[in-house]
Amino acid sequence: MSRFGHFDDAAREYVITRLDTPLPWINYLGTEDFFGIVSNTGGGYAFFEDARLRRLTRFRYHAPGDGGGRFLYARDADTADVWCPTWQPARVDVEDYRCRHGLGYTVIGSVRNGVEVETRYFVPLGETLEVWRVRVTNRRSSDANLSLFAAVEFCLWDAWDDQTNFQRNLSTGEVDVRDGLILHTTEYRERRNHVAYFASSDRGGAFDTDRDAFLGTYRGWDRPEAVERGRCGGSIAHGWFPIGAHQVDLSLRPGEGRDVVFLLGYAENPPEGKFDGTGRVATERIRGTVDRFVDPAEADRALDRLRDHWVDLIGALRVSTPNEHVDRIVNVWNQYQCMVTFNLSRSASLFESGVGRGMGFRDSCQDVLGFVHLAPVRARERLLDLAATQLPSGGAYHQYQPLTKRGNDAIGSGFNDDPLWLILAVAAYAKETGDLGVLDEAVPYGSEPGTESPLLEHLWRAFGSTLERLGPHGLPLIGRADWNDCLNLNAFSTEPGESFQTVPQHEGGVAESVFIGAQFVLASEELARLAEVCGRPDDAVSAREAGERMAAAVGNHGWDGAWFRRAYDHSGEPVGSSTNDEGQIWIEPQGMCVMAGIGLEDGLAERALDAVAERLGTPHGLVLLDPPYARYRVELGEISSYPPGYKENGAVFSHTNPWVAIAETRLGRGDRALDHYLRINPSAREDRSDVHRCEPYVYAQMIAGPAAAAPGEAKNSWLTGSAAWNLVAISQWILGIRPEHEGLRIDPCLPADWEGFEAIRRFRGATYRIAVRKPLGVTGRISSITVDGRTLDGIVVPSAPAGATVTVEGTIST
Ligand code: GLC
Ligand code: GLC
Repeated sequence: MSRFGHFDDAAREYVITRLDTPLPWINYLGTEDFFGIVSNTGGGYAFFEDARLRRLTRFRYHAPGDGGGRFLYARDADTADVWCPTWQPARVDVEDYRCRHGLGYTVIGSVRNGVEVETRYFVPLGETLEVWRVRVTNRRSSDANLSLFAAVEFCLWDAWDDQTNFQRNLSTGEVDVRDGLILHTTEYRERRNHVAYFASSDRGGAFDTDRDAFLGTYRGWDRPEAVERGRCGGSIAHGWFPIGAHQVDLSLRPGEGRDVVFLLGYAENPPEGKFDGTGRVATERIRGTVDRFVDPAEADRALDRLRDHWVDLIGALRVSTPNEHVDRIVNVWNQYQCMVTFNLSRSASLFESGVGRGMGFRDSCQDVLGFVHLAPVRARERLLDLAATQLPSGGAYHQYQPLTKRGNDAIGSGFNDDPLWLILAVAAYAKETGDLGVLDEAVPYGSEPGTESPLLEHLWRAFGSTLERLGPHGLPLIGRADWNDCLNLNAFSTEPGESFQTVPQHEGGVAESVFIGAQFVLASEELARLAEVCGRPDDAVSAREAGERMAAAVGNHGWDGAWFRRAYDHSGEPVGSSTNDEGQIWIEPQGMCVMAGIGLEDGLAERALDAVAERLGTPHGLVLLDPPYARYRVELGEISSYPPGYKENGAVFSHTNPWVAIAETRLGRGDRALDHYLRINPSAREDRSDVHRCEPYVYAQMIAGPAAAAPGEAKNSWLTGSAAWNLVAISQWILGIRPEHEGLRIDPCLPADWEGFEAIRRFRGATYRIAVRKPLGVTGRISSITVDGRTLDGIVVPSAPAGATVTVEGTIST
């Protein structure tokens, strides 16, 4: 057992008490436009809207390592002792270290030789700046004469250019300094209307803006010369490496504390008002904001508002169950992770460089499932943005750029699962909000004005695009890949370094995906229900008929004898079959088929899920396939490029586990469902942090499988579709609180050793107080429900007027 901290459930914080976390354990700052990554030792970086194109501070990658970024040093003038209160990058010993990662803020504190320094980092709501609110306290019995140094290294905006195009950018860096306000003005003279700034509450303090002057020759951020000397030199950067460094001198009596505030901000000026009368950057607007937030009392109020915002937001779902891991992950961390994943997509983490991917079509659609109950208005916008990148054929760009909102093919096209996710996401939004008006919104194709059609038509085109691409078994053609980006049945790549996602395809019209077949069946029912609630019963019939035909094809050609097959390859050979020597059983079709209701009546579902538990189950969760591929298979593509036990090739790919948990609830097997859920619940794995290594408060994309050298080791934490799907699995299927067009369905599937649970769920503006009771030892379904004391006919609680509070009591008897 090894822990590096603990959950503080009441404060909704994770408290890290050991410096030597196996990897940097990070948090995110920012809720709207301005974001930062902050590690438990003050590392990370900040950006405005786009992690690549508007990067404020520099981060040199040795992913997922961390060498600082929010540099803070303390110096004792009497002894010349220098240390970092966040430990990095000086790594001089500190005592009483703690890092509290909370919802949108992080607090890092420590003590050295009786001097305590604690810093709160956060982005105030509605602002484009990051506050470092520092409190220095002298706990000695004698006076302390100290200097505090705070520094950031500016990134020259485009983070990719910044780390590659040195021949240009070592000459372009510019700064300006006014009264304790350091402005980073690179390219402002020409086409940019924005600056970054680093401000200090001590207007008169010394500063530096030239990195070499501050650090000294042949030195790094661990031992800046200016700090050792105890004096910034007032340097002005011309090219090379612009930084912002402030010095604040403090003399503290025994017991005395002092507040110091630093602000890292982003500001835009109107193009015609860029310069002041003297030709320098116009700063009135910046000055106003800075003056406001360098006041510690105002900073504290802003942090309180931020806290209230989050508490209110995640109050949309609150559960109280017999399992503490369920409670804290659902009530706080999983909902938080869903919001972060929605905001950042797959762009910026310690595993995602911030200079790479845009917004994935399928990823963003699935992210909606996890945050639609928290931010329905933003979900609506996101769905319309996504649909606008859909192609007239009904297919989809695989990704789009957040700044331009246009689709691009940079990481490939022709992933035939993509369009179907739009149906599932729009259905989830409509069921959560009851807003059917969204289906009438006029949305273009390929972002081309003049091509608009109602959103509902987009969904039908998505549906139709699958039906237009069927293979020899009547199953959907896979195209470049389906949900599993690494199952590349038409790639046949033999060139080292060639991208599996963009290499020209050998489409022979043969390679089919059982997974997309099942996904289509699931989508057909959602589309049918949408048609029904829109008063188009005929359309509902045709959607269902198409779904039934597909379900039959999956039943006839997708069943392998003991589980569902994964696919048919380019030569028509089965993938994921007992006749294969490796990759005999894959998780995705088992989860998706049963979620879609395939095999529920004829026993196939039960057999498939039994096979999953037996063949794919490990102490760390369900692996993606078994046995993993030991050698490269040109006919399967990237999947076999990963060593056995990693990523899609036989790791626990967290995203797929909740599908199986949901599938188990469809069979009514509550014990199995919760077991699958808990194996990858981050809090339930906290005791194994030394093995897991990633943060114990958020899901990671993968956990190494038994074939890997270090089974149980997680990677790619934070920005993963696992966040949304785990929340769906536990809240909608295990606890069974499930939005429907008609209201809130209460249909839990609980483990035998629970006696029920309680929950508060906000739904369409009303609040539902839900209690479900059951005898120990049974796992049955709801037998009766009362709403405000009256027995309900059925198990769907009709939606109440906004503002109402509804008491719902459910009973499970056998
Ligand atoms: C990554 C991708 C996602 C894909 C999954 C499986 O998580 O972001 O789109 O479905 O891998 O390959
Ligand atoms: C690689 C990753 C996979 C990801 C894909 C798309 O294939 O292994 O997880 O989905 O890239 O970016």
